This record gives sequence, structure tokens and C-alpha cells, in this order.
Amino acid sequence: MTIDKEMLIRNFEKLADCELELSGKVYDILFERNPDWLDLFTAHHSAAGRQMVRETLMYAVDHLNAENWVGPNLTSLGKKHVEYEVDEDMYRVYIETLLLAMADVSGTEWCPELESGWSELFEYLSNLMIEEHQMEAGIANDSRSAAAH
Ligand code: HEM
Repeated sequence: MTIDKEMLIRNFEKLADCELELSGKVYDILFERNPDWLDLFTAHHSAAGRQMVRETLMYAVDHLNAENWVGPNLTSLGKKHVEYEVDEDMYRVYIETLLLAMADVSGTEWCPELESGWSELFEYLSNLMIEEHQMEAGIANDSRSAAAH
């Protein structure tokens, strides 16, 4: 399916205007469904605060605009998330949650094209980050097997 760039950008502008509401909804749903994840965020609370939702949307839009800094930045972001003890399965849950909250905040504007367009972009971002999780796990396995010899 081809992504309707203009439609996504228009939706992004609306969501950016309701950033606090959107971010609040994402964390509400995440912690309501996964109460034990709260510890993860409290333990690794960054100086920047809870900017993850806004930044996830910005990464998606910048990738849509073919900004070439997105890939390398996601690689280092993936490494940080390994340190935050995020695991691969959590990405799917985060994407589902984002889409739910975005649909809610977008109201009648929300449609299947937006859902699939955003979903494709978030999966792209997640996959790049997950590659780093797999890389780190590979390194850990290699050093374990090296230690066993
Ligand atoms: C597309 C996927 C994701 C993107 C783009 C993303 C992006 C970010 C960004 C930009 C930050 C703050 C800046 C930084 O630490 O450098 C952050 C922090 C964090 N992320 Fe993610 N993230 C993603 C997925 C996840 C998932 C699946 C989890 C686990 C549920 C998670 C948990 C955290 C935690 C615990 C922090 C540190 C605390 C905080 O800053 O609130 N992230 N993420």
C-alpha cells in the first residue's frame, strides 16, 4: 500500500497541537494494561521527560520526508532501549497503543489509510531499533559461548 504523505502530515499537525493530550493517553493505556512497565519508565526517567510520544511521531514524519539522519539516530536509540531493559515484544504493544490514542485524539478525521500509513512507519522505526536489540543479544551470546570454550 502506498502511503498518503499529505494526509499523514495533516494528521501529524493536528496531533502536534494536542501533544499533551495524546501523550497522556498513550501512557494511561500503556500503564493500565501493563502496570509493571511503570517501573521501567520511573527507573530510566530521562532529563528530557516524557517526550517519547512526540519524538516517535517526529521520527516517523522525518522518515516520510526522507531525512537521512533518521536511520543512524534510531540505531543509537535502539541501543539506549536495550539499556532501558525494553524487550522486542514491547514494541508491538507500544505501536498498538500509539495507534489507539492517535485514533482517539484525531476523532472523525481518523480512517483506515491513516491507521495503515502510521502503522507502516512505526514498524519501520521499531524494526531498526529491534535490530540493535538482536545485535546486542548476539554479542551477549557470542561472549557467553566464547567464555564456554
Ligand atoms: C518506535 C519505537 C520507539 C521510539 C521511536 C522511542 C523513542 C524514545 C525516545 C526519543 C526517548 C527519549 C530520549 C532518549 O532516551 O534518548 C525514549 C525513552 C524511553 N523509552 Fe522509548 N521509544 C520507542 C519504543 C519504546 C518501547 C516499546 C518502550 C517500552 C515499553 C520504550 C521505553 C522507553 C523508556 C523506559 C524510556 C526512558 C524514559 C523516558 O524517557 O520516558 N520505548 N524512547
